[in-house]
Amino acid sequence: MPSVETVNLSKRYGSFTAVSDLNLKIEGAKCVGFLGPNGAGKTTTLKMLTDLIIPSSGEALINGVNVHAQKKKALASVSALIEAPEIYASLTPREALTMIAEIRGVPSEERKKQVEDAVAEVRMEEWIDKRVGKFSKGMKQRICVASALLGNPTIVFLDEPTMGLDPRGMSEVREIIKSLRGKDRLIFMSSHILSEVSDVCDEVAMINHGKLIVYDTLPNVTAKFSGVNNVVEVGLAHSIDSKIVTQTIAALPGVVSAEKVDDKNLKISFSGGLDVQERLLNDIVNLNIGVISYKAASSELEEAYLKLITATL
Ligand SMILES: Nc1ncnc2c1ncn2[C@@H]1O[C@H](COP(=O)(O)OP(=O)(O)OP(=O)(O)O)[C@@H](O)[C@H]1O
Ligand SMILES: [Mg+2]
Repeated sequence: MPSVETVNLSKRYGSFTAVSDLNLKIEGAKCVGFLGPNGAGKTTTLKMLTDLIIPSSGEALINGVNVHAQKKKALASVSALIEAPEIYASLTPREALTMIAEIRGVPSEERKKQVEDAVAEVRMEEWIDKRVGKFSKGMKQRICVASALLGNPTIVFLDEPTMGLDPRGMSEVREIIKSLRGKDRLIFMSSHILSEVSDVCDEVAMINHGKLIVYDTLPNVTAKFSGVNNVVEVGLAHSIDSKIVTQTIAALPGVVSAEKVDDKNLKISFSGGLDVQERLLNDIVNLNIGVISYKAASSELEEAYLKLITATL
């Protein structure tokens, strides 16, 4: 079973502590989201887990093996995409990835196929023999994601894998990550996109100021830390009379409060799950007030995140 563990892991830069006594044990084939605000220590942690930087104290272990003391052994089945490594501009994806496959120990007779498959998976087949120097940021990122697939790693570290991609690119990379969650593979990925984490990950680890705040399954984190009330935003084609909001809408079943954000937008807080949310939409549409949009104001994970991060500011 693949495992990633940090034991009292710390990184100090002078008097500043970037990662502070981090104890985290992730075990098994699963995808774990690594969340935290800018500067929380995510990249620093991932770098210590891949021996890109050395801990000030504590240990980073992969499958029980100390990453710094026994780098080769510890990282044999690991691939990582941290701060989108630059690919030599003069190389083509085929050349760059073949080199990486070789370094990862992919047998020479399998290299060609693995490289082509990985490039196809990120939909860059047409570009496989073009020089990387001409690629956009998103195209380079896709090639980097492809490189993380080489050598069939059992542990994959991804640092904001969809950063810099267009919406379609993001959803493609997300699908790739989902397909990576195959048997016996552990994925640990940092992200600022909470909907992405909800969509892709089984568990969440949150850090702030270098300290672990929570590590639990996604349902547990949202159940424990998000509120009981859910909020929807309603967009209207024309302005609405305040009375309808405060009297009629506020009195609909399940509604806790209703307010105007501006003339054409409402915020409605309700208690209950998707069934209530569905009925509420029906009720509001039936009021014939010109509803043109209806969406959840924030995800449960977002709510939990904001609560936890605010509590540790
Ligand atoms: N080489 C360095 N020297 C000094 N301070 C550093 C160094 N590298 C990182 N830091 C500091 O450590 C803290 C954690 O940085 P880190 O890059 O790990 O954050 P992060 O969680 O990845 O943030 P982001 O979400 O913005 O990527 C930051 O305050 C950063 O300024
Ligand atoms: Mg970072």
